[in-house]
Amino acid sequence: MAPLKWWQRAVFYQIYPRSFADANGDGIGDFPGMTAKLDYLRDLGVDALWLSPHYPSPFLDCGYDIADYCDVAPEYGTLWDFSRFLQKAHERGLRVILDLVLNHTSDQHAWFREARSSRASPWRDWYVWRDPAPDGGPPNNWASIFGGPAWTLDQATGQYYYHVFLPEQPDLNWRNPEVKAALWDAVRFWLDLGVDGFRLDAIATIFEHPDLPDHTLPVSPGAVLDANTLPWDDYWQLLRFQLHQPGMHELMKELRALVESYPGDRVLVGEDEDLAFHGSGDDELHLVFNFPLQRTRRITPAHVRANQALRLGALPPGAWPCNTLGNHDAPRVWSRYGDGAHDAALARLHLALLLTLKGTPFLYYGEELGMADLELSDLGQLRDTNAINRYRALTERRGVAPEAALREVLATTRDRCRGPMQWSEAPNAGFTAPEAVPWLPLHPNHRAGVSVAAQADDPGSLLSFYRRLLALRRATPALLAGEFEVLHPDSEDHLAFLRHDRDSGQTCLVVLNFSGAAQRPAFDLGGRAARLRFSSAERPAGRLDLQPLSLAPFEAVILDLL
Ligand code: NOJ
Repeated sequence: MAPLKWWQRAVFYQIYPRSFADANGDGIGDFPGMTAKLDYLRDLGVDALWLSPHYPSPFLDCGYDIADYCDVAPEYGTLWDFSRFLQKAHERGLRVILDLVLNHTSDQHAWFREARSSRASPWRDWYVWRDPAPDGGPPNNWASIFGGPAWTLDQATGQYYYHVFLPEQPDLNWRNPEVKAALWDAVRFWLDLGVDGFRLDAIATIFEHPDLPDHTLPVSPGAVLDANTLPWDDYWQLLRFQLHQPGMHELMKELRALVESYPGDRVLVGEDEDLAFHGSGDDELHLVFNFPLQRTRRITPAHVRANQALRLGALPPGAWPCNTLGNHDAPRVWSRYGDGAHDAALARLHLALLLTLKGTPFLYYGEELGMADLELSDLGQLRDTNAINRYRALTERRGVAPEAALREVLATTRDRCRGPMQWSEAPNAGFTAPEAVPWLPLHPNHRAGVSVAAQADDPGSLLSFYRRLLALRRATPALLAGEFEVLHPDSEDHLAFLRHDRDSGQTCLVVLNFSGAAQRPAFDLGGRAARLRFSSAERPAGRLDLQPLSLAPFEAVILDLL
């Protein structure tokens, strides 16, 4: 097998720049803050950083509404601060990929301001404009992923523009070659500065059906299309003319060629789960997230086995898997998969899963401390416009009582997983100056052990567990490169699999006990003996009996087969 590329060996760590570290005391994270924390990240043992958008933006969608593709948000610093961050990251062996939002801009981007200034504007066709329907309403019944119609009337020019997300995030018209040229220039701008690749936002939304056919399922005005409440199939059914339209694969191939014209194996990671984005093997995106792995209330052995069979079975030859359990759009791993009684043990088990499956893992900042979802209590604390709009839609259009609407919105807002990083037990957790007002509140558990300072020197902490397992993965060829083979396909309490690396000859047996009871599974592996490589429990080093293997509740073990 060809030697693995850096992005196949790497563990990625997602940083939400607004929430990571604030150096100037304005309550908002910034590049000098992130730069000061690079040693922490190196010592944690991750290899690459994915930054959520760092561009100038009105921040109605927390930066996914970009007002300038070739600059840095002033709150985060300057281009010079960015370059210094990149240089210091590289000096520590950390790669950096940026978030690239191709589908839409902010309505404050100069392109859109120009486009909306007049029907005759040379930029008009950079966005998707249509005349009103004969009754003056929107051109069709398409809905926005963030609720409400996907069209907004521009009163001054009398036409509607299309937005699959917020009205303040107008969709670019990718059928216009000038749009492509401008975005490819932006891509070159960052590649020239030395970034190691991009995470591509919402790629399935880039093209719309050119004839704009109505959905046949009626979408009522103000309908809240919400993956949390609609059955998954209905959700995609309702968006089917707005997603995954022809043209995307050609576009991704073009972008891949552009990126490959640069040295250094720059990487493209798609925010999509469709393996078709690998192209015919390996000529579109390098990595495509395995989102179905996280789309479950509880991670169980059966869920993981079914997921891996489907994903690995469908992976085109030459393509490489990519696993994640959390990001800035989903509840935190700790809160989502914890059961309230064994959260700490489950957090260890979930990391062990992520770092031993075949493929590149993505971690989310704060996960290594056991950071939990924020518990917000009033509307004024919300920063995600999507959540604020949802509250309005529930109360104003759907007649839901304000208290019930508030409860629902506070329980689902993405703000909950975007809280400031918890560095210490100090006021404001060392994220920002003690007297500053952080942009989102701190979780009070930063004073109860969930902080870097509290965990860094404690060998029994979750942070130490992350460090240990990250170091172990890096030093274990079978975990990096090995093929995945399920054992015990019917087991409900434990997940067992082999990772076999032909080049080094190493085979690891991974056994994860997902139950709160001790287990004694037996393994018949042709008489091969096993030696302990890693355990989440206290175990003496050395050889282990496989017939049976005694597992403590929620124990994760990694064994070398001899
Ligand atoms: C996906 C991003 O992950 C999400 O945070 C954002 O709201 C949408 N794309 C729109 O850009």
